[in-house]
Amino acid sequence: MIRIAAVGDLHYDRRSHNRISEHFGGLDTKADILLLAGDLTQTGHPEEMQVLADDLQKCPIPIVAVLGNHDYHVDQVETVTRMLEAVGVIVLEQSSTVLDVAGQKVGIAGAKGFGGGFVGACGSDFGEPEMKVFMRHSKAQARKLENCLKEMKADYKIALLHYSPTAQTLSGEKKEIFPFLGCYFLAEAVDYGQADIVFHGHAHAGVEKGETPGGTPVRNVAQPVIRHAFNIYMLESKSKQSENKKEFLQLES
Ligand SMILES: [Fe+2]
Ligand SMILES: [Fe+2]
Repeated sequence: MIRIAAVGDLHYDRRSHNRISEHFGGLDTKADILLLAGDLTQTGHPEEMQVLADDLQKCPIPIVAVLGNHDYHVDQVETVTRMLEAVGVIVLEQSSTVLDVAGQKVGIAGAKGFGGGFVGACGSDFGEPEMKVFMRHSKAQARKLENCLKEMKADYKIALLHYSPTAQTLSGEKKEIFPFLGCYFLAEAVDYGQADIVFHGHAHAGVEKGETPGGTPVRNVAQPVIRHAFNIYMLESKSKQSENKKEFLQLES
């Protein structure tokens, strides 16, 4: 059984000392990996990220993270990425990692993702150059994510995103901003890439549970949604499943 602790949208600022680390006690007895689904800081300023990095250094289990749109705001992505890596956090952006958990290979493909909208209410790669750039960025993110998932050799495949692959977990957000909260390209990527589950953040007013059109479970772990330091999910071992499909269950919050 693989146990995943996940949270997004920590939105650390210069005064957030110990906000997550005060929940790290005994975490290694409850979870195997901690996933962070972007918007780790308010603006992506190195001083904000340093507060988080100091906190994450105290975590007893491996941490895998993606950045969110807030972490890009002040154009210090390389610097803040290096700060996380310096304390052992694996930062993914259109890339993947495979961790060994009790002899099982857990693959995580991560990307920030981007907006674009959902079938019937989405942008298209047409018209002004600015619109083409917007949609091509979204499509490129999804294509790379799909390739990462397909290339990973792992017993379990997890997609870690900031933007949502489905409108289902956006329920509660204003419909007018759905195209800025996620894109259906990401759902196609996780379905074709045969991910077992997707974690994302970004939709603070959304809901936790949804799934892609292909039936891949999606969990919006934005902290304002889950209202805990993190949620813990478990992936049952294949041998306990009647079909080839693996199942994630929420263990505790
Ligand atoms: Fe956020
Ligand atoms: Fe965000």
